[in-house]
Amino acid sequence: MHEKVKVPFNKPYVGPSEVLAILRAALGGSLAGNGRYTRLCQQYFEEKFGFPKTLLTTSCTDALEMSALLADIGPGDEVIVPSYTFVSTANAFVLRGARVIFADTLPDIPNLDPADVQRRITPRTKAIVLVHYCGIACPMDEFTQLAQKHNLVLIEDAAHAFDSYYKGKPLGSFGQLATFSFHETKNIISGEGGLLVVNDPSKVKKAEMIWEKGTNRAAFQRGETDTYTWMEEGSSYLPADILAAFLFAQLKKSAFIQKQRKNVWWSYYEKLKPLEEKGLIGLPQIPSYATVNGNFFYFTLHEVSRRNELLHQLKKAGIHAVFHYLPLHQSPYYLQRHAAESLPHTERFAASIVRLPFYVGLKEKQIRYICNTVKNLLQA
Ligand SMILES: Cc1ncc(COP(=O)(O)O)c(C=O)c1O
Repeated sequence: MHEKVKVPFNKPYVGPSEVLAILRAALGGSLAGNGRYTRLCQQYFEEKFGFPKTLLTTSCTDALEMSALLADIGPGDEVIVPSYTFVSTANAFVLRGARVIFADTLPDIPNLDPADVQRRITPRTKAIVLVHYCGIACPMDEFTQLAQKHNLVLIEDAAHAFDSYYKGKPLGSFGQLATFSFHETKNIISGEGGLLVVNDPSKVKKAEMIWEKGTNRAAFQRGETDTYTWMEEGSSYLPADILAAFLFAQLKKSAFIQKQRKNVWWSYYEKLKPLEEKGLIGLPQIPSYATVNGNFFYFTLHEVSRRNELLHQLKKAGIHAVFHYLPLHQSPYYLQRHAAESLPHTERFAASIVRLPFYVGLKEKQIRYICNTVKNLLQA
C-alpha cells in the first residue's frame, strides 16, 4: 500500500531570488562556464573561507575526479579511502587505475580512524581521501601529520562540510585539495554542483587546465595568452553560468539557511536526548574540535536488528526517514575484484544509522511529531 508522505526526507530550499538569478544570467548573455557568476561564487568561497583558489564544478564527483588527476594518480598507486561513504569518493580514483584501500571508521564517529589509516600505508600509497561525515570534522591534526610524514596527498571530501570547522579553521582548508557538493540534499544547492579547492599553489595552473578540457583557456580569458590550446589531460568540469547564478543566489542567503538548518539539527538533538539517556539510541558525537553545520541529522540504533522495521514504521506514520551508506568494501563492484574483508565499525554504522527528514522549513511541530513517533516506536 502506498503511504501518503506527511514529512518528506528532503525539500530543496528555493526562492524567487534563485529563479531571478537564472533569468538575469540568461538574459545578460552569461550562459557558458567560467562566466561572471562562476567567478562571483568562487570569490565568495575564497573570501569567506580563505581558500586560496577554488573552481566551481558540475558536481563533487567531478571535483574528486579532478583531484585524482591533480594528485597524478595512476595504475600501481594505492589510495586510502573510507568504505563508509558515497561511491564517488572511491570511484574517482579507480577511474585513474588506482587500487582503493578501505579503512575503518572511528568506533563512535563515522569518520575515518587515523590509526587504521596508518596501518594501511604501504610504499605504494599515494593519497588519503577523508570524508567529514555529516559536516563533523575528522581529526585533522592527526591526518595532516600522517600525510606529511609519509609524503602523501591529503584530499578532503567535504561534500557535507560547507561552513563547518576544525579548531576554528574551515573544513576544506586542510588537504592539498578539497571538494564540496551542492547537490539538492546539501546546505547550499544548485541541483547538481560542486567545488574544487586547490590549497597547494603548485597545482593551481594545472587545475585550471583540467577544468577547461585540458586547455589554457582560463589564462587566455584573463588576457595572459594570445590563444589557447591543448596543454594537459582534462575534461569539461565547469558548470554553465546559469547554474552558478542559482548557486550565487543561495550563497547570498547562506547565513539564513545555516541558521535554519542548525536550529533543526539541535531541535532533533535535544528532543532525542532522552532516548540516548535510556540507552536506546546513539546521538552524533561532536568532538570539542568540531562544529555542527546542519547538513543532515542521524542517530544510531543500539538494537541494530530493529532498524529496517523502524524505517518501515516511520514510513507508515508518514515520515520519510532513510539510511545510508552501503559499505563500499561489500559492494558488488569491489567484491567481484577483491577478497571480502571486515571493517567492523563501518558495518555497524551502515546497519544502525537512521537519517531523519531534514530541510529548511521543517517546522518545530513536525520535528516534535517525528521525535515522538520514534520514541513511541522504540519504547513499544
Ligand atoms: C561524501 C560524499 N562525497 C561525494 C558525493 C558526491 O557528490 P555529488 O552528488 O555532488 O557528485 C556525495 C554525495 O552525496 C557524498 O555524500
